[in-house]
Amino acid sequence: MTDRIRYGGDHNPEQWPEEVWDADHRLFTRAGIDTLTVGVFSWSLTQPAEDTCDFTVLDRVLDRAAAEGRRVCLATGTAAVPPWLAKRYPEVNRTDFEGRRHRYGQRHNFCPSSPAYRRLSTALAGRLAERYADHPALLAWHIGNEYGGACYCDLCAAAFRGWLRERHGTLDALNDAWCTTFWSHRYTDWDEIEPPSALTEHWRGPDHTAFQGTTLDYRRFMTDALLGCFVAEKEAVRAHDPDTPVTTNFMGMYRPLDYHRWAPHLDFASWDSYPPLDAPPTWPALAHDLMRGLKDGAPFWLMEQTPSTTACRDVNPLRRPGELRLATFQAVAHGADAALYFQLRASRGACEKYHGAVVGHAGRDDTRVFREVAALGEELAALGDATLGARTPARTALLFDWDSWWALEMSDGPSRLVRYQDVVHAYYRAARASGADVDVVPVTADLTPYDVVLAPVLHLVKGDLAARLEAVAERGGTVLTTFLSGRADEHDRAFLTDVPGPLAPLTGVRVDEWDARPPEFVQPVPELSAGARLVFEIVLPRGAEPVATYGADFYAGSPAVTRNRFGAGEGWYVATALDQDGVDEVVRRVLARHDLTGPYAGHRTVETATRTAPDGTRLLFLLNHGREPARLTAHTTATDLLTGKRVEAGAPFTLDPLGVVILSPQ
Ligand code: GLA
Ligand code: ZN
Repeated sequence: MTDRIRYGGDHNPEQWPEEVWDADHRLFTRAGIDTLTVGVFSWSLTQPAEDTCDFTVLDRVLDRAAAEGRRVCLATGTAAVPPWLAKRYPEVNRTDFEGRRHRYGQRHNFCPSSPAYRRLSTALAGRLAERYADHPALLAWHIGNEYGGACYCDLCAAAFRGWLRERHGTLDALNDAWCTTFWSHRYTDWDEIEPPSALTEHWRGPDHTAFQGTTLDYRRFMTDALLGCFVAEKEAVRAHDPDTPVTTNFMGMYRPLDYHRWAPHLDFASWDSYPPLDAPPTWPALAHDLMRGLKDGAPFWLMEQTPSTTACRDVNPLRRPGELRLATFQAVAHGADAALYFQLRASRGACEKYHGAVVGHAGRDDTRVFREVAALGEELAALGDATLGARTPARTALLFDWDSWWALEMSDGPSRLVRYQDVVHAYYRAARASGADVDVVPVTADLTPYDVVLAPVLHLVKGDLAARLEAVAERGGTVLTTFLSGRADEHDRAFLTDVPGPLAPLTGVRVDEWDARPPEFVQPVPELSAGARLVFEIVLPRGAEPVATYGADFYAGSPAVTRNRFGAGEGWYVATALDQDGVDEVVRRVLARHDLTGPYAGHRTVETATRTAPDGTRLLFLLNHGREPARLTAHTTATDLLTGKRVEAGAPFTLDPLGVVILSPQ
């Protein structure tokens, strides 16, 4: 088989008699499916009792896949513990935020600190690797599934204390980091420390904590505790299989886990895309770019998406004709080297029986969904290896920081209504609307490749970040940051300087006060013909020049947006939550300074994305998210890799509703 974008999805033949497997493989061939994710929820099948392992079904599944010329992404199956395990080792059941010890049920249901879980999950992973390391169907390892959630049991409390000792060294350091003299919390023994939960520091849920430092550390600890489960299984796999790449499926912008802490431990990133119902196309695009940023821009796998509909929401609309194809090429445009579905065949019972599938309960291949899946399979096969291993040559970076996300949203004051993802998305969307390719990177990333660094709501400034941002401006680049940035250190302790703390020299502003208003209040920003909402920082320029000002209230006429010359570059400060139009305008000006606006910028529905193939070919994806044809003028002479049609520089061409072209200059 020639190299191509891997195509397939979750395959659960263990739920079916073998005649259904025959039908499956016939249908997979018809749909161009070459990759099967196998065994995600197979623990009770492969290990029906503690001392019994039975791989006969899995053997047949893998052998059959190999015989059919398909490859397998093999799961270790440890995301849902079997009932016998929970019964025998009740410690494995999680204790929730309210302090309730759960009994057996559901999935993603294990305590990450449970020794029994660790021992049994790694043993199983090891056995699977021992058995299948050399299997011809094996393509990749899929450890666990969608790690997430949190546990608050006594084992986790003990593990948290151990983690804190490692991190802080002494109780004095911890007391200092957490500001425990506030409300008489000075700890004198590690054992006095409790996980922050509804029973301890929290009220009104996970975002209302008396001690942000404690809750921040617990989120970091839980990220690491779950990561520990992944790493232990990976090591068990590696003991038998030194080479096959290992991944686990992430969930994009998933708040509970800081994926940047996980990224170094994965051989490649993969994720499951189920965008919120009313999300604009830049929402999944941002998540794709975040996932691509996990491994320094290397391609990732789209491990799951629905071919038609989800089941878990109150209302589960269909993907309209053409939407699946567009979403899939959007993933490829942002760096996916594989496009897999959840699921290939709909399960007969349980809570996902109405979840969309390539093959429904009737097993037909003449449904609209199957036809679209098969047509896409054909197109991907025809595209071959043209996009594989390609890179995004972005000169714009957007900083994404889980610590800032957590700290911002658990902050009391100035406004609970400022949501991290919303602000970050607004800046991302603006850059994309201007046609800029964007790398979404951690705050520790090397910033030297970038001309523009967007750092919205960078609430915490850690390590040498301020100096590295200054270096971007120093050499001629532009850094943009916003309200509620530069407020606190890595422990969420306020900087004992003017706001925005370490970002003050770069931005040339000082903020002494900030106003917050209900969402219906709109503060006019006349220079941008835009409005602003939620939070209004009152900026005293200290070197910066105003770009736009507030139009109302006692701070009318004072700057809402500023620009500061810094070295050969600039530091911009946006002191309020501008409406999207305002953000668009500010970001467009910043990008224009570096000539980073794209040739189709400003088209309302057309998204562009550049990919540089390993041979240096620069591909331009054009994706029309609109339901009307998009009439464009070709910026260059090129061939569409999907249709083989040529466009001539300067000549008009039309992009179909929901249409895609991949322009290759030739
Ligand atoms: C997740 C899981 C799958 C399935 C789908 C349904 O992504 O990994 O097992 O539950 O959701 O959307
Ligand atoms: Zn626990």
